[in-house]
Order: sequence, then structure tokens, then C-alpha cells
Amino acid sequence: MNEIPTIRVGILGFGTVGQGTWKHLHENANFWEKILGVRLVATRASVRKLDKDRKVPIPTEALTTDSLAIVNDPEIDLICELIGGVEEAKKLTLQAFANGKSVVTANKALICEHGNELFEAAERAGVQYAFEASVAGGIPIIKVLRESLVANEFPLIYGILNGTSNYILTRMETEGASFQEVLKDARELGYVEADESLDLDGIDAAHKAVILAYLAHGIWVDLKDITVEGISKISNADLDAAQKLGCKIKLIGVIRRNFENDHVSVAVYPALVPMAEIIARTDGVFNGISLTGSVVGTVVLTGRGAGQDPTAGSVISDLVDVVKGIRGINSSIKLLHVSPDQCKPAPAIEVTGCYYLRLSVDDRPGQLSKVAECLAEHAISLATVSQTPHGNNSPATLILTTHETNEHSIAQAMASLEELPGVEEPPVLFRMFDPDSNGE
Ligand SMILES: NC(=O)c1ccc[n+]([C@@H]2O[C@H](COP(=O)([O-])OP(=O)(O)OC[C@H]3O[C@@H](n4cnc5c(N)ncnc54)[C@H](OP(=O)(O)O)[C@@H]3O)[C@@H](O)[C@H]2O)c1
Repeated sequence: MNEIPTIRVGILGFGTVGQGTWKHLHENANFWEKILGVRLVATRASVRKLDKDRKVPIPTEALTTDSLAIVNDPEIDLICELIGGVEEAKKLTLQAFANGKSVVTANKALICEHGNELFEAAERAGVQYAFEASVAGGIPIIKVLRESLVANEFPLIYGILNGTSNYILTRMETEGASFQEVLKDARELGYVEADESLDLDGIDAAHKAVILAYLAHGIWVDLKDITVEGISKISNADLDAAQKLGCKIKLIGVIRRNFENDHVSVAVYPALVPMAEIIARTDGVFNGISLTGSVVGTVVLTGRGAGQDPTAGSVISDLVDVVKGIRGINSSIKLLHVSPDQCKPAPAIEVTGCYYLRLSVDDRPGQLSKVAECLAEHAISLATVSQTPHGNNSPATLILTTHETNEHSIAQAMASLEELPGVEEPPVLFRMFDPDSNGE
């Protein structure tokens, strides 16, 4: 039997994202093997302090303070650079390229400052430099921009690129809390970067906007040359006034391309965004990016822009792509086939949920209780009832919602209701969608 090849990953930085990447690589080892045909294993990680408490367990011998030793380890095939910062991260990345190793990173500051040099070095070395996690954490914006929307030019890309500032603005707006109060909570929740100005003064969002501008238009805009404003001047009175104008104030990154004069402008600033825009309704720690493409029109992506699991998910997505490159897998990864004892379609009868019912009924006493009894015979109980009489002996409209039931019971109840005396027309039925239900 052929032995399954192993690809070993060295993780530089075992903090929030490094630990998440280690955890998910180990927890889903069988899955990677199934879809890639290789064993994808994280074997070593580097830190500054060996004796720090870490939530994700790692063997002592796998941890080192010597990142360069990991980069130079001949047993390691791929590097994840998750230490952050610029100079050290750049040195380690270039060394990894020189050693013929591809690098996956989440480091927007590094790419924003030295992207050109690093991409050229990776190309010269014939390796990949992947950075999905560097913009909007768990939202797959880089792949969408580079691959899925490749047929487009982009006159406008804009959105919320910093979850911390969005969290602060959302709480100020919904609770009337002051900037300082919410900032204190955000610090306690670990949402604010050690260098707070990155989040509050728009610099983190600007790093990401510069990367998006490069991907969409192929030019590097210097951070020094763009307008970058933060959220510290926004008051509760401004947020209230914006609401009255049908808007919300959001910190947005805006990348515009004027195709007539071929100018690309990049900026980050707080702005009143009309409520009709999905971006205005993207609240809390969520990020949202609206891409207007010349072919597709507008596409909006929203999701978690940071955090251990979402960001690690993007790092791993890049790792999978790099492995595909190394293994010469040109098509998309293998389709996943699992045996029926692992996973199977739920029979319709078992799918559960709540329902909305509209009935046209005789407007006479006792009709509602007949309908309720009919439903009860099929073990369906009512959650809400509203009856609208229309007068002049016309049928009344009955709007009912049910508690949870299953497809089988509701189908039988519908058949019974159609036959029920006093029900004038076939009942209208809709499912009530509950994103929190597992449907079973
Ligand atoms: N956190 C997020 O949600 C998120 C989202 C998107 C992108 N990112 C990016 O991902 C990268 C990592 O962020 P993070 O939040 O995981 O940072 P973090 O929690 O501060 O972790 C950084 C890790 O790197 C280690 N480290 C730092 N400098 C080092 C050095 N010179 N040598 C060896 N180890 C070193 C630290 O060691 P110690 O543990 O010993 O201090 C720590 O384990 C950054 O570029 C960040 O911008 C983060």
C-alpha cells in the first residue's frame, strides 16, 4: 500500500491566530487527508516566552523561541507567519522564500508596507505567498476578488474593515453608551490591538484598504498618501442625528477607480452610510465589504473580520491552496464523499420548524376553536393568532403561527383544514425560517 505523504507546517507565533491554526489542523487531520490526499500536520511553533499559559495544548518540544530555526528546519515544508509586526516578520518570510518554502500570513501591516518586495521575492523563488487572513479575517475576500470575480473591473469597493471600531460605534448607537465606556469594555474583551491607534485611528483599516486596492487595480498606494481618519471624534449626538437622516455612521475604507483618468483613490474615514446599504446594517464586530464589479454588479460579503477561529479558517484555506500547488493538484480539491453511517440526508418527515398559516374562514363564533382543534389533532399547537374581520358576512382572515412541528404533521393538518367546514379557501402555508434551529 502507498504511504500517504506528509506536509509539515511550522507556525511562527502561537498567539490568537497561531493557536487557532494549530488547533484546527490537528482536530481535522483526517479531513485534510481525505480532501488533499496528504497528511497536513503542524509540527513546530515559535513564541517570545516559553512559559506563558496557552489555551491550546502543544507538546513542550514543539515550542521554541527561535523562529529562524523553524524556517531553516529541513523537515518543515511550509511556514505560517503569525507573529505580526513588520521587520522580524519580513526577515523570516524572505528567509523562508530563500529556503524554497511557501508562506501563509495574516500580517496586513507587513503586506501593506512591503507587499511589492515580498511578492516579487516569492515569485523569484518559485514559491507562494498567501494572505487571505490579512483582510477581514474570516471573510474570503481575497479569493473572491482574485478568482471568483476575475471577469470584473471595480469602480468601487468599500466597507467596514475594522471590527473593533464597528463594535464601538454599534454599542454607542444602540445603547447610547459613551465612546470611553465602550472602549473600556472592548479592551476587557480583548478586541483592541496592543497599539490602540491601529483600530481607533483607522490605520488597521487603511492597511487592508491598500491591499484590496492592489488586488483590484494592481498598484500599491502608499499609506502616507491617503486620507486616514478614525472614530474618536464621533459623539452620540452625531450617531442620533445620522439615524434621523436615515443613515448610520460607519468607519469605512473606500477604494474608487476612475476609469476616465485612470486614478485609484484609497481612503479610510467615518461616514454617514444610508440604511439601504447592507454595510450600514453590518453591526458589532462584523466586517462587511461591498464590491461593485463592471460585470457582476454589486456583491456584498459580511462576516467575522477577526477572532481565533475565523482567522485560522482563512489561514488553513491558504494552506490547502499552497498544498494543491505543491502536489500539482490543478483542479479544485477532491469532492468530499462520506459513507452513509457518517452523514445522510434527513428524511423530510423529521425536518422540524414553525409555520405561518393564512386562512379565510367563516366569520362566526367557534370557528377559531374548530381550527385550533383540527391542528391539535395533528399535535400542532398555536404560537400566535390574529383575526381580521371584513364585515358584510365576508370571510374573516385568520393569521396563525405554530410552535415547532414537523413536515409530516403540518402536511396532514393542511389536508384536514381544507376539508374543515367554515374554511373557505385552501390554506396558505409558509415555513418560518429560524437560523438558530438545526432543522431536526
Ligand atoms: N487576532 C486576530 O483576530 C487577527 C485577525 C486577522 C489578522 N491578524 C494578524 O495575525 C497576526 C497574528 O495576530 P495574533 O492576534 O495572533 O497576535 P498575538 O495573539 O499577539 O500572537 C503573536 C504571537 O507571536 C509570538 N511572537 C511575536 N513576536 C515573535 C518573535 N519575534 N519570535 C517568536 N514569536 C513571536 C508571540 O509570542 P508570545 O505568545 O510568547 O508573546 C505570540 O505567540 C498579526 O499579523 C495580526 O495582524 C490577527
